[in-house]
Amino acid sequence: MQEPWPASSSDGLGRMAAQLLIEQGHRAVLHARNEQRARDAMAAVPGAEAVIIGDLASIAQTRKVADEVNQLGAFDAVIHNAAVGYQEPRRLLTEDGLPHVFAVNTLAPYILTALIRRPQRLIYLSSGLHRSGDPGVDDLKWEKRRWNGTQAYSDTKLHDTMLAFALARHWPGVYSNALEPGWVPTKMGGPRAPDDLDQGHRTQVWLASSDDPEAKVTGEYFFHKKLLAPHRVARDVERQERLLEACGQLSGIELPSA
Ligand SMILES: NC(=O)c1ccc[n+]([C@@H]2O[C@H](COP(=O)([O-])OP(=O)(O)OC[C@H]3O[C@@H](n4cnc5c(N)ncnc54)[C@H](OP(=O)(O)O)[C@@H]3O)[C@@H](O)[C@H]2O)c1
Repeated sequence: MQEPWPASSSDGLGRMAAQLLIEQGHRAVLHARNEQRARDAMAAVPGAEAVIIGDLASIAQTRKVADEVNQLGAFDAVIHNAAVGYQEPRRLLTEDGLPHVFAVNTLAPYILTALIRRPQRLIYLSSGLHRSGDPGVDDLKWEKRRWNGTQAYSDTKLHDTMLAFALARHWPGVYSNALEPGWVPTKMGGPRAPDDLDQGHRTQVWLASSDDPEAKVTGEYFFHKKLLAPHRVARDVERQERLLEACGQLSGIELPSA
């Protein structure tokens, strides 16, 4: 039986993805930031195997999430879904001294990828806004630029796309892909988001579990189960390597080689 693991399923698209995986007969483990959100997640997704708790803004807690995932066994798929949005009004720093958006949206998926026992499939939630991401990866901590919340979010979604492509190169036995779900009315997307919410979770579930040849590819970018061209910068190998190196330095965690 497959065991796709939707990362962060206490709300929004992560929760919808977990519900759909279970409806389709898969086993799913949830993730939530704290005890209360864990209870919410388990109540919202009856049939989930378990919920793992940890705040992805903290490197220590993210490490613990990975340890607990590994204690549960090997997973077929990991969906890197959890993120914070584009409305942080100033440069909020985490306990590790990192911009909060970067810590949750970029560094946490890097850490979880590096530490969770290698699954068969990795899925990274990007966004159409990744096309506005800063092509340089030399100011991840926002020390050189004046803060801009939308730019900071867009940068992290470019990073998520780069992570997906870098992992496709580094781990050739794993299907590693990124997708954009559309601008949909979740807590993050807001009530006026124009795209179809009911399409927002389906591509990640398909990439996590389908035997369609179109889903068993690597290093690709999707929108609604169709290939879509990502920002060309995301395919720049040298920039991908710089991002991996920076994440390694900031977290103290090296990406295992192939
Ligand atoms: N909605 C859109 O229009 C849209 C568009 C493009 C891309 N995306 C991407 O789609 C993914 C899912 O977004 P969504 O729309 O479902 O947003 P959402 O409803 O705000 O859900 C985000 C999830 O991430 C969790 N999370 C945030 N910070 C966390 C932390 N520090 N530790 C642990 N969990 C944390 C949230 O937990 P809590 O519920 O406890 O806050 C929530 O479960 C994100 O990667 C987002 O960038 C969304």
